[in-house]
Amino acid sequence: MLTVGEGSPGRLARLAEIRDIRMSLKYVGGKQEVLTLSPVNIVEITGESWLMKTLVLGATGATGRLVAADLLARGGEVRAIVRSADRLPQDLLDHPNLTVIEGSVLDLPEKELRDALEGCKAVISCLGHNLTLKGMFGSPRRLVADSVSRICSAIQTESSAGITKVILMNSTGCKDTDAKETPSVFDRIVVGLIRLLVPPHADNEAAARFLRSSVGKQDHRVKWVIVRPDGLINEPGVSDYCTVPSPTRSPIFNSGKSSRVNVARFMDELASSEEVWAEWVGRSPVLYNRD
Ligand SMILES: NC(=O)c1ccc[n+]([C@@H]2O[C@H](COP(=O)([O-])OP(=O)(O)OC[C@H]3O[C@@H](n4cnc5c(N)ncnc54)[C@H](OP(=O)(O)O)[C@@H]3O)[C@@H](O)[C@H]2O)c1
Repeated sequence: MLTVGEGSPGRLARLAEIRDIRMSLKYVGGKQEVLTLSPVNIVEITGESWLMKTLVLGATGATGRLVAADLLARGGEVRAIVRSADRLPQDLLDHPNLTVIEGSVLDLPEKELRDALEGCKAVISCLGHNLTLKGMFGSPRRLVADSVSRICSAIQTESSAGITKVILMNSTGCKDTDAKETPSVFDRIVVGLIRLLVPPHADNEAAARFLRSSVGKQDHRVKWVIVRPDGLINEPGVSDYCTVPSPTRSPIFNSGKSSRVNVARFMDELASSEEVWAEWVGRSPVLYNRD
């Protein structure tokens, strides 16, 4: 509860309790209202280091590093499981609120994985196969699906109560089977061929299927959002973007643009804003840049 001090109306004077990122404000005189504040607001207002912890997978990747940087800039704490810390940019490595765990989610001992998850309100996966012959056709063929599955099991077996958000970076090429999307025959033929010939696509589909079907929407510990960018591009800063429930254009024949920095911002918003989360939980939003 934050009480606004008498004689200094409008000034937030005392912090007694923070639940998630919703705060109850009680004005002297009895009036009470609930505001939604971001972690960075809370740090600014209260001066206390209340940090939201997020576990990021794929933080050395082109999108993952933007996710980590944005979360840190918002006053959050980031844990990153990476194969090699050397692949992280120096400014991230130097950040006091970044903890790096070297290893792969697939091989990390159970205890280390649970330690990495401890206290995290969200897990953001930006994992993807490296675009080399080995990365695409070698093992692990199910890098994304098996990593997400392992993370979810670790969350589910943890005894402490509470929900962990799992936010998966996926692709518009992966149909949302819950939304009854009906791509054109040509799209289906090409995506079918890609599924057969390009293992990373099948992996992305399997990861989304795992969350939709194996975890489902009734799980008491894991809640998820599958984020589907279209053609990824690099832009220096966040620009105007929209999020829609299903693709509004063909991902194969008329794909749109999704800048990685916008994708990162949206995933971070899902992690830190209860309003954005409530809109998309259990769904698979598509993100397009507004040109
Ligand atoms: N390209 C597109 O237009 C497009 C469109 C929509 C969606 N997507 C999807 O978006 C996701 C992220 O894309 P991105 O371009 O940001 O990815 P990226 O730069 O290729 O990053 C991939 C991340 O996965 C990690 N990784 C790769 N193989 C691994 C392994 N065997 N074990 C552990 N970690 C491994 C990489 O770690 P290292 O640094 O150690 O290699 C890196 O951190 C992918 O799933 C991709 O399919 C792509």
